[in-house]
Amino acid sequence: MSCFLSLSRALVLSSCRSRTASWKKTNLLNRFCFYCQASLLVLVSSAAWSLCAADVGDFTPCLHFFYKSWPPKGLDGTPICQRYNNSYCFASLYSRPRRSPWLSGYLYTAPTGKRPKANWKYEPQTHLRVLLSRTQLAYPEADGNMMPFLPGPMDLKVVESQAVELDYINSTFTRGHLNPSLHHRTKARRSATFTLTNVVPQKTGSNDGPWEFLEQTVNESLSTYCLGEAYIVTGIIPYRGKDPRIKNRVAVPEYMWSAYCCPEYNHSLPEELKDTFPTFAAIGRNDQNSTEEIVPIDQTAKKQFRGYDVRPMSLKTLEMYLKDRFNTVITVFYEQCAEAN
Ligand SMILES: *[C@@H]1O[C@H](CO)[C@@H](O)[C@H](O)[C@H]1NC(C)=O
Ligand SMILES: *[C@@H]1O[C@H](CO)[C@@H](O)[C@H](O)[C@H]1NC(C)=O
Ligand SMILES: *[C@@H]1O[C@H](CO)[C@@H](O)[C@H](O)[C@H]1NC(C)=O
Ligand SMILES: *[C@@H]1O[C@H](CO)[C@@H](O)[C@H](O)[C@H]1NC(C)=O
Ligand SMILES: *[C@@H]1O[C@H](CO)[C@@H](O)[C@H](O)[C@H]1NC(C)=O
Repeated sequence: MSCFLSLSRALVLSSCRSRTASWKKTNLLNRFCFYCQASLLVLVSSAAWSLCAADVGDFTPCLHFFYKSWPPKGLDGTPICQRYNNSYCFASLYSRPRRSPWLSGYLYTAPTGKRPKANWKYEPQTHLRVLLSRTQLAYPEADGNMMPFLPGPMDLKVVESQAVELDYINSTFTRGHLNPSLHHRTKARRSATFTLTNVVPQKTGSNDGPWEFLEQTVNESLSTYCLGEAYIVTGIIPYRGKDPRIKNRVAVPEYMWSAYCCPEYNHSLPEELKDTFPTFAAIGRNDQNSTEEIVPIDQTAKKQFRGYDVRPMSLKTLEMYLKDRFNTVITVFYEQCAEAN
């Protein structure tokens, strides 16, 4: 079944090339207008990230995936340093109650090669702090690396603490990457993104349409104009009130958001990219029926993508919407990724 899913996905992706060309790139950029939010964002004093020795529960070994080693502030969750084949690849802030991540933070590197085969993995350690005390870490697989799903029954503690492949199979949602395979140069980094602690239930109309287009637009901007490191954080916005869930287990986000920070960039930017450095952000719809206050719907979009629009915006505007929904100040980048003078 997952084979079928990845095959159909591959077909959609290959049919996407021509479709992407017909998407008006300028359309997205023209709609990029600042709403001049005067709202002053107060920096949260360095929040207390719990520090302990393992990769789950601690961002210390993977802080370098965040600008100035400063993970976003304001959200509570379980930090996961995503480790694949003994190397740290990115970081995620995971929500055990939602069985899906709040956000993933990663370093962008210009992609080469193809999207790898979807070989899905899980985090053997996430459940440890749910069901076992710190003194009972004797789970044989918990060596810190993400584990591939193998045929046969899953460890029930894993099933309890996180999403598994069965949750997504036959649901009306795809596995939406927060950290996409598209934004990485090495095969290992691309493969590492295929872990269920990095994905959320995402509608096909978003995942294969405007959201994928955003990922490609960001690739083009960063690969062309970012001269140093580019830090990206991609996360979700929950529904107000009760979340819909797939299989009564995995919480579905109402919106997805993404923001980048590229402190060192080529200042000879074309006019349409002037406001997209050093920071840029966007919010994408994941529900056709959401209201239009945050992201308006382009009624002229192709039917399969209609209602899944992505609205480019400033980092400030994104943080304003996050504050409004989470009811607390969320700070994505240290000092708004302000340029050093
Ligand atoms: C894991 O890393 C080792 C050593 O760096 C490398 O030789 C091997 O090909 C890697 N395996 C995978 C599956 O990436
Ligand atoms: C998914 O749906 C198909 C068709 O209804 C069914 O044959 C298959 O067993 C289902 N798979 C799972 C894992 O539920
Ligand atoms: C990323 O952007 C570069 C520069 O525009 C482009 O050459 C490359 O094909 C893009 N990669 C992907 C996978 O879209
Ligand atoms: C900056 O962009 C301009 C215009 O696209 C280009 O001519 C120049 O080579 C770029 N400089 C660097 C350092 O990439
Ligand atoms: C949106 O609303 C329509 C009409 O009420 C309904 O048929 C459809 O299932 C809803 N779509 C989603 C994604 O909830």
